[in-house]
Amino acid sequence: MTDITQKTGPRHVAIIMDGNGRWATRQGLERPEGHKAGAEPVRAVMRAARDCGVSMLTLYAFSTENWGRPKDEVQGLFSLLVKYLKTELKELVEKQVRLRAIGDIDSLPHSARHALGAAMAATAKYEKFTLNLALSYGSRFELARAARLLAEEVASGQRDAQSITPEAIGQKLWTADMPDPDLLIRTGGDMRLSNFLLWQCAYTEFYFTPTLWPDFGEAEFKAALESFHSRERRFGLAEAQG
Ligand code: FPP
Repeated sequence: MTDITQKTGPRHVAIIMDGNGRWATRQGLERPEGHKAGAEPVRAVMRAARDCGVSMLTLYAFSTENWGRPKDEVQGLFSLLVKYLKTELKELVEKQVRLRAIGDIDSLPHSARHALGAAMAATAKYEKFTLNLALSYGSRFELARAARLLAEEVASGQRDAQSITPEAIGQKLWTADMPDPDLLIRTGGDMRLSNFLLWQCAYTEFYFTPTLWPDFGEAEFKAALESFHSRERRFGLAEAQG
């Protein structure tokens, strides 16, 4: 097997962690048990990503659409997030992991905003590796927000309409100062983006796997990286130019 730490990239890996509910059902458990079990692969993948030279890991932890789930499940997901942030903060600091978040953070329950704020402040100085949590995140919401912000600047005379370029739009997204994902992994068998990083994934490589998120771990993460390394990225150019 090739040594993937010797190859360049991916710099930024994004993951749609799907299949917790099905995992729980298959074990004869309630859905929240699947989410609980889903916290372990988060730890394993973060370690593997750091070891493999990845510098940013973005996890789709809660989508704008997830607000429509039963109240108990939503509450359970945020309790789990708070617990994770509190128990994991020591390791984040020890391993010098910067925690960041994208999404409509103001809409999160107070306890989640508080734990997130504390963990982000405690890790803000770290530069080598970033764990980026997408929370109450939806690409369409993010793009509509960017359009609104730009429209307000045009209306107030701060900019003219001609200045609205792809770069200007990118600067109004929550990901403004982040690199686009090089690789996107989706577990759970579905092959779709589900409103995740639609703009940012214009040239991202995709890796879909039927493995349910609680069963995902270091070995399959490394397999996804192997698959990434086997691909030729041309970014719209012809083969000889790429
Ligand atoms: C999708 O599975 C998963 C989620 C909506 C939540 C993701 C949350 C975790 C993995 C918990 C741990 C995360 C952190 C950051 C502590 P699903 O419920 O849609 O599964 P299904 O498709 O089988 O129903």
